[in-house]
Amino acid sequence: MNISNRVGQITKSAIHEMTRLSKQYNDVAFLSWAKPTSGTPKHINDAVISAIEKGLTSGYSQSEGLPELREEIVKKLKRDNNIIAKPKELLVTVGAIEGLMTSVMSVIDPGDEVILPTPTYSTHITQVRLASGKPVFVPLQEENNYKLDIEAIKNVITKKTKAILYCSPSNPTGTVFSENELRELSKIALQNNLTVITDEAYEYFTFDGKKHFSIASIPELKNNVITNYTFTKTYAMTGWRIGYLHASEQNIAQIKKAHIPFAICAPVASQYASIAALKGSQECIEKFKLSYLKSRNLMCERLNMLDSYFQYVKPEGSYLMFPKILGKQGKNSLDFCKKLLAEAKVSTTPGAAFGPTGESHIRLSFCVPENIINKAFDRIEKFLNK
Ligand SMILES: Cc1ncc(COP(=O)(O)O)c(C=O)c1O
Repeated sequence: MNISNRVGQITKSAIHEMTRLSKQYNDVAFLSWAKPTSGTPKHINDAVISAIEKGLTSGYSQSEGLPELREEIVKKLKRDNNIIAKPKELLVTVGAIEGLMTSVMSVIDPGDEVILPTPTYSTHITQVRLASGKPVFVPLQEENNYKLDIEAIKNVITKKTKAILYCSPSNPTGTVFSENELRELSKIALQNNLTVITDEAYEYFTFDGKKHFSIASIPELKNNVITNYTFTKTYAMTGWRIGYLHASEQNIAQIKKAHIPFAICAPVASQYASIAALKGSQECIEKFKLSYLKSRNLMCERLNMLDSYFQYVKPEGSYLMFPKILGKQGKNSLDFCKKLLAEAKVSTTPGAAFGPTGESHIRLSFCVPENIINKAFDRIEKFLNK
């Protein structure tokens, strides 16, 4: 079979390599999973069972999503994101991932450049490559809490630059970009007619008083922003594959043309689940947030005891952190993770997967029960102090 250059150029990710290797061992302590371990709340499951029994879920919906769902999303965007949206400005997607791929496909042509502040979510890099675009990596300022480097972003803009793609709160660093930083970024986008594509998957999980800011709440940016959201993290709905994106009405009309050949529409049963999620009690979000905060604090405490081996920036959001491996061991993060897995049975994710400045780091997920964090760190301590 002929393999397109588009696909052929994509190398196997270090994340998948680690997942494959992890299966060879028993009793592994996983700090590599970036998905909620709790189940979807019962009221959401019940609403879907009822929709199925009423025969509402076997056909396609409108490709942009059920009207009732988009009405609920409009209310949520106003309440939680300070975005005044109309239902016509929304597209319900197959998770944030399809929304992001559709966004990138809608904005760039082959050879166009997309700025990625890095380290960043590895899938964003793949998505740009899959769209035959060129990722342009601009390092975040690790020494300054992984702040955006606005000057460096300005300096890499060329005639080929079409978009800036970021996630905040961040996978893998746990950084939450501030309103000030994002206002600066919006100015650059407007001055250079760039589209800002955002991934706000972890919007509700911020700590220590840090506030999530949606750049689409800046009215002047309206025609230059596509915002991607998901139900995956907020309501522990990973497998339902449902999210949505927001853009101006005129841009949505174009983006929808890319969404249809990818998906026709998002799974209808999952759209009913999402209606129930938005209409029902929001208590689960607070519960998840509190448990991630406790786990983050525990993980930081355990890392503090290993300060001759790791240096880290305390995550302000998401449920991920990105410690730097100090000394010789940090030269090759994939080798380090493989050794940690083989000798200590702890699964972590090599930083090299998250862009060039990810090397010498490991990504750790604190979206796991506290006993797993303790078990993993007992083993890591033994491994390192050997
Ligand atoms: C930053 C980020 N965006 C998107 C996703 C996936 O979202 P979805 O399940 O909605 O496709 C993940 C999953 O880990 C993620 O970390």
